Amino acid sequence: MAAGDAPATQELRAKTELDKDAVSAAGDDARERARTPSNEGLQPQNVVVLDYGGQYSQLIARRVRECGVFSTLLPYHVGPEEVKRLDPIGLILSGGPASVYDAGAPALDPGLLELGIPVLGICYGMQLVARELGGTVESAEVGEYGRSQLTVHDRGRLLAETPTDQACWMSHRDTVFKAPPGFEALASSTASPVAAIESEARQIYGIQFHPEVVHTPYGQQVLRNFLINICGADGTWSARSVIDDQIEKIRAQVGDGRAICALSGGVDSSVAAVLVHRAIGDQLTCVFVDHGLMRKNEADQVIAAFTDYFRVPLVAVHAEQRYLERLKGVTDPEQKRKIIGSEFIRIFEEEAEKLEGVKFLVQGTLYSDVIESGGGTGTATIKSHHNVGGLPEDLEFELVEPLRTLFKDEVRAVGAELGMPERMVWRQPFPGPGLGIRIVGGEVTKEKLDILREADAILQDEIRKAGLYRELWQSFCVLPDIRAVGVQGDNRTYGHVIAIRAVTSDDAMTADWARLPYDLLEQIASRMINQIRPVGRVVLDITSKPPGTIEWE
Ligand code: XMP
Repeated sequence: MAAGDAPATQELRAKTELDKDAVSAAGDDARERARTPSNEGLQPQNVVVLDYGGQYSQLIARRVRECGVFSTLLPYHVGPEEVKRLDPIGLILSGGPASVYDAGAPALDPGLLELGIPVLGICYGMQLVARELGGTVESAEVGEYGRSQLTVHDRGRLLAETPTDQACWMSHRDTVFKAPPGFEALASSTASPVAAIESEARQIYGIQFHPEVVHTPYGQQVLRNFLINICGADGTWSARSVIDDQIEKIRAQVGDGRAICALSGGVDSSVAAVLVHRAIGDQLTCVFVDHGLMRKNEADQVIAAFTDYFRVPLVAVHAEQRYLERLKGVTDPEQKRKIIGSEFIRIFEEEAEKLEGVKFLVQGTLYSDVIESGGGTGTATIKSHHNVGGLPEDLEFELVEPLRTLFKDEVRAVGAELGMPERMVWRQPFPGPGLGIRIVGGEVTKEKLDILREADAILQDEIRKAGLYRELWQSFCVLPDIRAVGVQGDNRTYGHVIAIRAVTSDDAMTADWARLPYDLLEQIASRMINQIRPVGRVVLDITSKPPGTIEWE
């Protein structure tokens, strides 16, 4: 993206300031790995992606990994020294919302072009490079947003093995009108006279379009050209290759100490727990708090999987009654979250105290959490995402976070490699406060929870049978605190209303309501009304995010 408005730039600066700690922590991690003697030779080839604030920066990092090359995402201002310390084989400059001509727009440190490694600028990144090296970048009369047609005049190395005419995805107003001296202009598009540049001699490349989005069909080929042919990557990295490395690291960190893990049943904490158990065996104890807000049979499944299947020492705390007491009369969503979260912490601490000598806490922190911690996106101010499982910072444990460098889909690959069942590895995200925040506008009671659980079980069953479970980011039911009139047989009914919420999304930051087939919806609704007595009406939520959020509370 590149547009050119000052507020966007300010927001970006605020964001990257906030992200600094988190991201330098990511840098620390990689540096630490680079220095750990036992890991010599295991250090994967790394490509650094510098984030200029584009909405697709994380996606670029993921796509690089899909080409078999490990990537590290850092904020644009880290500077050449910081990049060099990671010893990358290539550097990618992302897109961003600013115009290169904005006062205070994220700037290019020229030292980044002198590191002796190939550089690829994408969108704003290309404009920065072109401007720095003497090309012409100007604001065009019309922007170019969405699908566009690319015409390749000279494939060069960057566009090798792609057709002369191809579709691509654009999102910019500023445009490169003239390539810098010594550069080849490889392609143009409807609104971009120069849409791709390269200088083989200087190892600097640029593309105006976004190779990382699916709407650019040859995007992955272009990235592969850059990574494999230009940077010389061997393309052998995979999330699976992280397992041995992590097992070694966990053993080195924990030694013969004891570790504890708060298990939520979600993918992240489950994979983290199984991985750590693989490394240190029964020195790990998991704590699972059944707050009574889980879906039908879910608590039993988690307990069975960990005790019978993985044989991980597990303390299961059945606390439904305790939670129902605390939630009595509470209707405000934020208050519910606080109660559920603080009750969890209390229980976890009680259990941790009972286990002697625990020094380490295992957490399923993901790379996106590392990048986003600091609240860069602002969503945290819309809802306090204090998870159940979100523990306070002042707990006196040393953290073990074996998934810190991985994206969600990579964690799933690790889970599958560790032999975890499909149901666990592909579980849709489920909020820590569980069904507590899906009973909307009224207090949480056992009766309502049971209705919601039954409805949700029918929904999940039908969605799975239709083969849609993995395609949907989330699918769930909501129980608003209202009744609706109906007629069943010859009788007037006054029953509960179930709302179906199903969304597609990449990262929960934005989401679209899923176009579930009508026949499927009919089947779901009729099963709910026929099989759950108190349910009298079923409705469908067709709100995207924004303006809605995924959950109703
Ligand atoms: P929203 O509703 O903000 O949700 O669009 C985005 C994602 O976050 C999940 N979510 C939560 N997860 N604790 C959690 O652990 C929470 O309080 C919470 N609220 C929302 C939601 O399910 C979606 O995946």
